[in-house]
Amino acid sequence: MLKTSKSTLAVLFASLLSMPALADKVSFSNELNTQGETLVLFKVQNTDFPGARVLNDGSLTHLERAMQVNQFDGEEGKMLEVLAPAGSQLNRILVMGLGDGKLTDGELNNLGGKLADKLAAHKDTRITLIAEGTPNAANLAAEVAHGVKLKGYEFGRYVTKEASERKLRFALTEAKAASAEYARLSAVEAGVALARDLVNTPAGDMTPEDFAIEAKKLKSLGVKVTVIEPKGIQKLGMGALMGVGKGSLRGPRLVVAHWEGAEGAPVAMVGKGITFDSGGYNIKASGGSISHMKSDMAGAAAILGTVKAMAMQKAKVNLVAVLPLAENMVSGDALRPGDVVQTAQGLSVEVMNTDAEGRLILADGMWYARTQYQPKLMIDVATLTGSKVRALGREYAGLFSDDESLIAGLTASGAAVGEKLWRLPLDKAYGDELKSSIADLKNTGAEGSAGASSAAMFLQRFAGEQPWAHIDIAGNALSSAEKPLSPAGATGFGVRLLSHWLTGQAGN
Ligand code: BES
Ligand code: MN
Ligand code: ZN
Repeated sequence: MLKTSKSTLAVLFASLLSMPALADKVSFSNELNTQGETLVLFKVQNTDFPGARVLNDGSLTHLERAMQVNQFDGEEGKMLEVLAPAGSQLNRILVMGLGDGKLTDGELNNLGGKLADKLAAHKDTRITLIAEGTPNAANLAAEVAHGVKLKGYEFGRYVTKEASERKLRFALTEAKAASAEYARLSAVEAGVALARDLVNTPAGDMTPEDFAIEAKKLKSLGVKVTVIEPKGIQKLGMGALMGVGKGSLRGPRLVVAHWEGAEGAPVAMVGKGITFDSGGYNIKASGGSISHMKSDMAGAAAILGTVKAMAMQKAKVNLVAVLPLAENMVSGDALRPGDVVQTAQGLSVEVMNTDAEGRLILADGMWYARTQYQPKLMIDVATLTGSKVRALGREYAGLFSDDESLIAGLTASGAAVGEKLWRLPLDKAYGDELKSSIADLKNTGAEGSAGASSAAMFLQRFAGEQPWAHIDIAGNALSSAEKPLSPAGATGFGVRLLSHWLTGQAGN
């Protein structure tokens, strides 16, 4: 196997360039003054306006007039921007509408996202946000801050921009409570940013080896990271992971990242890590679909991001991530359609279609997670099927499980953070489509059948006895347009959902 090693200079260069162009520094203070260049106020519709008390008379009359002229009364998600009157030390005043004031965390995040866009439109770098007087002020401040940060993410690796800092100061009496709540959310932000960086990086710079190098960086947070190289993968009998990876000059890896923040059996998460999916000999025909396939490791990226989020908040959870990584390429060494591979579990698989590679590497990854860690439950996350995209589009991810409490917990967390899940069927009938005439099973279902479900039934053969859920995030990981909480590009889908679920806020 040929291996290209990168020059240290190139590595140094890349890491210099990955500095974010604009970093928002969030703080919470109980000094209710208007210092700064931009003042942000929040208004509940049809009520008086306690936040505006921080303004001196001149600005207040000015603002009230602007609200009247613009017929603005604090409708949810609406924003009013006015230049501060002459003589004010402020540049501008922004008012955000809170509607009836009963907003979910996800809705507050979205307000933060809108605010991020508004702030990006000018150069003010000292922002004071008066959360005092809003309903549940500490929660509002923390969740709005979270939204601003998520939307303000920039992928800086290849752009030359000078780094600058912007200060966001939330003013409220309950500054301590807000700050404690935000500590958890900022850990999640770091996880989301990691997942996005990994997915945004072009496949040429994010090979299985590159991904493993990024994973090892979590060691500094107390995460146990082990990387198994091709020889070790072969030795473990993982013929499916080896088979998918063998068409590439850059061999496969198995990354294990373990955050042991609690005792007892761990939760295992297994993520699809295809760093590039050409389809193999069943090459992806349309230019559109193949050109997005740097995102085919988004499942592995979301799970690594979740591990980072847990480690950074020192969460009392025991989480082991098992991430099979491979590049699905075409070459004289690649799998041929019709070849048979031997999984570590012992089942042989006839590879009817080399583009159905995700389930192959997950089969070996799930076997490893189960047999090495005896988890209390297992969740896999994968950009697995085009069929899922056709069924649910890009808003919902597909959820498959026979465990009602896992279904309920994950669905509730998804709804809470706005990374929504919709249950799709696991059914023996779809599994029957996977019968092979020469091996234990084949890797594709029937033509024209429910592809997302037959893929899930394939995985079920490797899921063992403990509760298991499969999340198909095809279509959710990469977006050509901006979203309420992310710029165009990688979304980091899954990190917020899994973090929320793990830290038990949905009562799992
Ligand atoms: N990585 C793709 C699935 C995918 C499609 C992810 C669109 C993101 C956006 C997967 O490996 C794949 O190619 N699946 C095939 C399976 C088929 C050959 C049975 C598919 O769904 O077309
Ligand atoms: Mn594929
Ligand atoms: Zn794929």
